[in-house]
This record gives sequence, structure tokens and C-alpha cells, in this order.
Amino acid sequence: MNTKRTFIRPVIDRDMKLYIETYGCQMNVGDSEVVLSIMQEHGYTHTTQPGEADIILINTCSIRDNAEQRIFGRLRELAAFKKKKPSLIVGVIGCMAERLKERLIEKEEIVDIVAGPDAYRTLPVLAGSAREGHKGINVLLSREETYAEIRPVRLDKNGVSAFVSIMRGCNNMCSYCVVPYTRGVERSRDPQTILSEVRDLFDKGYREVTLLGQNVNSYQWTEDGTDFADLMRAVAAVSPLLRVRFATSHPKDLSDKLIETMARTPNICKAIHLPAQSGSTRILQLMNRKYTREWYLERIAAIRKAMPECSITTDVIAGFCTETPEDHAQTLSLMREVGYEFAYMFKYSMRPGTKAFRTMTDDIPEEEKTKRLTEIINLQNELSLKSNQRDVGKRFEVLVEGVSKRDENQLFGRNSQNKVIVFPRKDHKPGDYVTVKVKACTSATLLGEEETAF
Ligand code: 5AD
Ligand code: SF4
Repeated sequence: MNTKRTFIRPVIDRDMKLYIETYGCQMNVGDSEVVLSIMQEHGYTHTTQPGEADIILINTCSIRDNAEQRIFGRLRELAAFKKKKPSLIVGVIGCMAERLKERLIEKEEIVDIVAGPDAYRTLPVLAGSAREGHKGINVLLSREETYAEIRPVRLDKNGVSAFVSIMRGCNNMCSYCVVPYTRGVERSRDPQTILSEVRDLFDKGYREVTLLGQNVNSYQWTEDGTDFADLMRAVAAVSPLLRVRFATSHPKDLSDKLIETMARTPNICKAIHLPAQSGSTRILQLMNRKYTREWYLERIAAIRKAMPECSITTDVIAGFCTETPEDHAQTLSLMREVGYEFAYMFKYSMRPGTKAFRTMTDDIPEEEKTKRLTEIINLQNELSLKSNQRDVGKRFEVLVEGVSKRDENQLFGRNSQNKVIVFPRKDHKPGDYVTVKVKACTSATLLGEEETAF
């Protein structure tokens, strides 16, 4: 009789410590929290100390070349760690994993695991086989995966504000952007799972949720016809004490229905991040943004009409293919015309695989890109300062997030417009709402004092 026994690898890896490092956007922060949840289910415990980790996962970003270069630098640092502790498992997850696939393992000897954004449920299996000496890779993209029922393990420290992912992927195909290739097609998460996650957060003391997706305006749950405005209303109805935010909107999909819903619902924050990318219609066309400068300005006018107090922020790219000094001047003039509260500003970085990479030339010299970006940054600093100066003397309801890093007698929080306000602590704590009158400002912060009596 054959007495050979079959060993089944245990599904639970007990006492293994996981350290996770996150680069890039808020979607990645949310994904790291999902990964942590999956790994904890399989017996891993979280550590904030890379030195004591058995497995290190780097959640990566591919949006610009400098983001990837930073991560390659970090992998070289980790190689020194692994020399000291050969049993250490190193995994690269997220957008770079998806973009570079097996090339990552070939190029970077220390990488044991490569897992794309839709492959996180298989991480425990990949980690298990890495412990047995096999390198593991899963970069399959999915049309359905939304990690809908997974309760993320929160990595934020304040316990007041949390990100909730409502959709994944992107169908827009902006010609400069690698995201549709690394995160796959757009899919929305079941609204019931979103609501139950939000209720759970509120019960745990959270007072602010940011609904996240690459393009939240195209959220659609076809089974019951819920669109993004419906979802926002439902989330805001969880409690009047819960603030609701969202990111990011594509201007072409910003509906009147959403604007009306925001205006009518006090606990939906009056802040819209509406990336323009450029102020030149010609460049917008080459970027495949599907709107013109005029159309974008009409959306801004509609927001202002319904919510004069709403803050508007943006993303801008300097030096896209063929951008002339006149196109650049139009970006500056758009910024002035809108008067953005804040902006994320970038030099164009050609990404392999994108439409721009395939059909255009990255023809603006680096020096010129830097010059244009500097002009954009200087202008935005001026606009942010002006916007903050307009707030001096106004009263805002501030949700307290924590103690100021500079002064332990001061607290900081945000107003509905998402501006940071610092004010004297007294006996308030994170999670409290405090009415604050603004007394002074810098271009980055408002400084105020609590207003007790009206
Ligand atoms: N180069 C520079 N900036 C980019 N972004 C996206 N792709 C690129 C690129 N190839 C910027 C856009 C987008 C933000 C998330 O990153 O402004 O809105
Ligand atoms: Fe990229 Fe455009 Fe999708 Fe944003 S909307 S992720 S810029 S393709």
C-alpha cells in the first residue's frame, strides 16, 4: 500500500509580520487598506517597522516617470535589508506591478512577488509560495473585481476621516495617462456594501468619508439605476454629522444633478476637485479630454451659481506634446479666470503604452517644461493666498482632525471647502465640530479662533 502522505500547505500563515508602504494616489492608500485586510484574514499582523517585517509590500504608482524612479530607489534600499535577513519577502503591488509585470522580477532581483491592482485576493497564496522559494506573479486585470465586501483595515491615524473606494478603473483614455492600462476598465461597487462600510465607520467615530474613484461621476450601479448623485445622497443620509467628500471628477461627466444634490445637502462638502489639465482647447483635444475650455468654464459657472461658497481645485500638466507658449498662456489665464483654491501641478511625463506615446512626440524641452511649471506654481501660490485672504473674517464649521504639529496647544481641522484651519485647542478633540472665525492666513493655512457666542 502506498503510504506517501500528502501535505496541504496551511492557508493561515501565523505570526508573520507585514509592512506595507504606499506611493501615489488616494486610490492606492485605499488599496493598501484592502490588502491589509486580506492579509490579516490569513494570519499576518501589521507592523509599522520595516525592520521587524517578514514581508514588505510596496504599493506603487506609474503615473509619471519620477514616481517609478523613486520606487526603484527604494527597492535598492530594501536590497540591503534583505542581505541582512534573507528570509524577507519583498512584493511590488499596484500600478508598476501591472505595467512592468515579469520584467520587475527579472530587473530587480530582490522582488519575490508581483501583484497587480485586481490580484490582491491572491496575495496570501503568492506570499505562501514565495516562502517556499518560488517567485510569484499575478497581474490579471478583472472586469468585476471591486473588493466589494472586504472591510479595509484603516491605516489613517486620526480616526476621523476615511477613504471609501466606490469604483475602480477608468474608461476615459486621456492620451497622456497610463491608468486605464494599469487599473483596467471602469466598474462600480455595489452601493449596499458602500453604505454598510460607511455606517460602520460612523459607528466607530469617523466623521468624514471621501468617496474615491478615478472618475466618480460615471459611477453607475445598473441593477437598481443608482448613479453618483443618488449614491452621494444615500451616503450623506447616514448621519447629518457625517461629512461626505469625493474625488476625482472628470469635467465632462459633472452633471447638473450632482451640483443640485451638493447644493441641497448641507453635509456634502462644498469642494470640487475638477482637473482641467490645460486651458487650451487645442491641447485638450490632443489630450482626448472631450471638453473645450468654454465648456469647462460653463461647468465652473454652474457650480458657482448653485454654490457660491464652493471651493474648486484642479490638476494641471505643463508641457504636453506640441504645447506652444500661447497654449501655456491659456492655461495661466484659465487658472486666473477660475481662481482655483489649490492645484496639483505637474510636468508632462511621457508614459510608454499611452496614445500620446504611440502617436505624438514629447517635443517640449525639459528646461521649457520646468519654466512653464514654475510659472504655473507661482500663479497658484498667488491665487491660493488671495483665496485665503478672502476668508479672513469669515466663520467656518471645522471638523477637528488632530493636534497641530508645530504647537501642541493648537488643533487643526478642515472646513467644508477642505481648507486647513489651525486654532487654539481648549478642551476640543479630534472628531469635534467647532465654529472658528478666521483671523489671519498664509497661502497654505487659515489661522482662527473659536467663536462661542453669536
Ligand atoms: N504626465 C504628467 N502628469 C500626469 N497626470 C496623469 N498622467 C500624467 C503624465 N503622463 C496627472 C494628471 C492627473 C493627475 C492624477 O496626474 O494631471 O489628473
Ligand atoms: Fe487618467 Fe484621464 Fe482616467 Fe484620470 S480620467 S485616470 S487622467 S485616463
